[in-house]
Amino acid sequence: MDTETYLEQTAGTRPERIRWWQEARFGMFIHWGLYAQLGRHEWVMNRERIPVEQYEALADTWHPKDRPAREWAALAKQAGMKYMVMTTKHHEGFCLWDTAQTDYNAVKRGPGRDLVREYVDACREFDLKIGFYYSLMDWHHADGARCAQEEGARRRFLDFTQGCVRELMSNYGKIDILWYDVSWPLSSPEAWESVQMTNMARELQPHILVNNRAQLPEDFGTPEEHVTAAEKGRAWEACMTFNGSWGFMPISPDWRPVREVVDMVRTAAAGQGNLLLNIGPTPDGSVPPEATERLALVGDWIRQNGEALYGEVDRVDGRMEWMPTGSWTLKGNNAYYWCSRWPGQELVIGGLRTKVNRASFVADGTPITFEQTENRLVLKNLPYHDPDRIAGVTVIKLECDGPPEQKLGAGVVVLDSAR
Ligand code: GLC
Repeated sequence: MDTETYLEQTAGTRPERIRWWQEARFGMFIHWGLYAQLGRHEWVMNRERIPVEQYEALADTWHPKDRPAREWAALAKQAGMKYMVMTTKHHEGFCLWDTAQTDYNAVKRGPGRDLVREYVDACREFDLKIGFYYSLMDWHHADGARCAQEEGARRRFLDFTQGCVRELMSNYGKIDILWYDVSWPLSSPEAWESVQMTNMARELQPHILVNNRAQLPEDFGTPEEHVTAAEKGRAWEACMTFNGSWGFMPISPDWRPVREVVDMVRTAAAGQGNLLLNIGPTPDGSVPPEATERLALVGDWIRQNGEALYGEVDRVDGRMEWMPTGSWTLKGNNAYYWCSRWPGQELVIGGLRTKVNRASFVADGTPITFEQTENRLVLKNLPYHDPDRIAGVTVIKLECDGPPEQKLGAGVVVLDSAR
C-alpha cells in the first residue's frame, strides 16, 4: 500500500480508535530491562561503550521476583492512571517476551519466563489498557547498525524487526498501543518499511493506536521531557521521566514532587494531551519507594479532583488567560481553576466573559459565594490557608452559562466603577 493511502485510511478510523485514550489522560510508562541491574541509566551500554559480549552476561544474572507487574498495575490504578506502556525491548536488544526471533530473551535466559505475558495479565487484572514500547534501534543485533550500509543486513534486520512486531501483535490478545522508539540508523520510513510494518500491526490489532516514532506521523506525537501541546487537532502525549532517567537509577536526587506531577497533568489536560509518566523498576521489579510514595499521593489528589482532568476537555489556549494564582482546564460550560498559589480569603479573576451560575470546590463539592461584575469575578469567604493538603493545588469549578472565555489585555484597565 502506498504511504498516502495508508495515512488516509488510518486518519479515517482515528476518531473512533483514539477516543478512550483522549479521555484517559494519564498513563504509566515502564522502562525495565537488563540495564536495571547496573542502575546507571538505560543508555549505559552505549554511553560506557560496554562490549556486547560483556553486556550479554547481564541476561543470565537477571532474576526478577515473581510477577512484579502486578505491583506496577496496582500502583498505576491507585495513581489514577488508565493505561500502561512497557518496554518489550529497549535499545539494548534484550527481548522481554517469548520470541522466536532471537535467543536473547527473557524465557531462554536469566528470568526463565515471559515478562511481557506477566505484564499483559497484570494490565487486564487491573483493568488498564495495554501498550507495548518497542525500540527499532538495536545495539545487540548484528545487523542493527550495519543495516544502514548493507542491503543484505537491512533485509535481515527488517525481517527480525517485523518478526518481533508480528509476535507482539499476535500472541497477547488485544493490545491498545504500539509505542515505537528511536529509528536509528535508517533514515526514511521507506527504508524501515514503516507502512508495511505498521499496516501489518493494524491488520492484527485493528483498534491499535500507534505513536510517531517510526518516521510516520501516525496517531499521536510524543514530546519527551517537556509537556508541550501539539498544534490544534493533533493528538499528543508527553512522556516524562520521574527522576531524569528512564531506567532504574538509585542515586538520582531529582524525583519530581507530587505538585509538579499534578501540574504536568493539568498542562496535558489544558492542551487536550496525555501524560505518560515513567517508573524504572529495580532489577527485581520493585517500584522505587520514591515513586510509590509520590504516586499514591497523586492518586489521592486525583480521586478528589479527577473531574477537572479526565474526559472530553477543550483546549485552553486562545480561550483563557494566564493568571498569577493558577491555571485553567475546560470542559463544555465548565471552567476549572487550578489554584496553585492560594491568595487567602478572596480569589479574584479578571476578564471572565461568561456568566457564572455556580462556583464550588471540586474536592468536596462545597459551594462558594461569589460576586460577578462585568470585569471581575470575586470568590468570597474562602479559607485563609490553601485547603488542599496534598499538592497545594485547590481546584475550583465555575459552572457557566456557555463555553467559558476570558479576555485580559495587558495594560488595558477598565474599572467597573468607571462604567
Ligand atoms: C529516548 C531514549 C530512550 C527512552 C525514550 C522514551 O528516545 O533513547 O532511552 O526510552 O526516549 O521516550
